[in-house]
Amino acid sequence: MFLIFQRLNIEKTTQTCLSGQRINGVLVALTVKERVKVAVAELQKEGITPCLATVLVGDNPASATYVRNKQKACSEVGIITKDHKLPSTFSQKEIDSLIDLLNKDSMVHGILIQLPLPKQLNDFATTSRISPLKDVDGLTPYNIGLLVSGRALLKPCTPSGIIELFDHYDINLQGKNVVIINRSNLVGKPLYHMLLERDATVTMCHSKTANIKKHCLNADIIVTAIGDRERFVLTQDMVKDGAIVIDVGTGRVNGKLVGDVDFDNVIKKAAYVTPVPGGVGPMTIAMLLKNTVTAASISKEFVTNY
Ligand SMILES: NC(=O)c1ccc[n+]([C@@H]2O[C@H](COP(=O)([O-])OP(=O)(O)OC[C@H]3O[C@@H](n4cnc5c(N)ncnc54)[C@H](OP(=O)(O)O)[C@@H]3O)[C@@H](O)[C@H]2O)c1
Repeated sequence: MFLIFQRLNIEKTTQTCLSGQRINGVLVALTVKERVKVAVAELQKEGITPCLATVLVGDNPASATYVRNKQKACSEVGIITKDHKLPSTFSQKEIDSLIDLLNKDSMVHGILIQLPLPKQLNDFATTSRISPLKDVDGLTPYNIGLLVSGRALLKPCTPSGIIELFDHYDINLQGKNVVIINRSNLVGKPLYHMLLERDATVTMCHSKTANIKKHCLNADIIVTAIGDRERFVLTQDMVKDGAIVIDVGTGRVNGKLVGDVDFDNVIKKAAYVTPVPGGVGPMTIAMLLKNTVTAASISKEFVTNY
């Protein structure tokens, strides 16, 4: 069943490698969603309707919007969602019990805990409690271990979305110098392993890295995920000619959603750049849908890459 995705033959949009091309994450996400829709229909023929349980604790408006967007995307491709909105006072014991119930519920194939959780809850302990088979964010220690071994089926959504963008635009990673500016468990660390799997040479930078510009100027590909425009902007002078720039960062300047990259100037020098919005963001949601269908597939027949 897991091979559903590999059997699908979705036509790629033809792209020639012109200098200064804007990567269209909305379009690539749509192609992923079309593949997911076909996979959902195949699962339904076998009596399985993929179901994602979403868990939102507290009333953080940004988190509520993220969850709503994920639920809407699910309904567009035929994945059903079970919504769990919990008070901000929810205790660790209570969330642990809820996860245990969802782990046992055979109608639920994927569990999404929207992070960050309120202070009294431990993000790591909470996500670690999810069954690895239902871990659609790919964040449990088990799945991270598989990822490091190059064997994971459920991989973190944002890095997977970035790899999908490279594939869609026929960007070969072998032997490329890639700089990732981020070392979080959500973005930088999993992406590092996925890029190594593709034979890239990867350098990870973070807030303590000396001379990030020097690393960037040596990079064929730069992935930046900081989201603090006041302290960091990736400018044209940090990018070598023909580089590929992936902007994961999200922040607000004067109420406007912005990334880490000075897009208008960097695109004059780079070969490809992702915009914010419309780049990595839609891919993250698309890969969540894909992971949910994968989880639904393996719930019936646990097939792995071992
Ligand atoms: N578009 C999407 O779908 C999507 C998905 C996930 C995340 N994001 C965005 O990506 C950004 C990062 O998310 P995250 O969860 O990974 O955040 P995070 O855990 O706060 O990680 C931020 C990373 O940036 C590094 N950093 C911060 N300031 C820096 C500086 N001045 N120079 C160099 N490195 C610096 C930090 O270094 P240290 O480790 O040394 O602190 C850390 O590794 C946020 O804006 C988030 O909204 C977007």
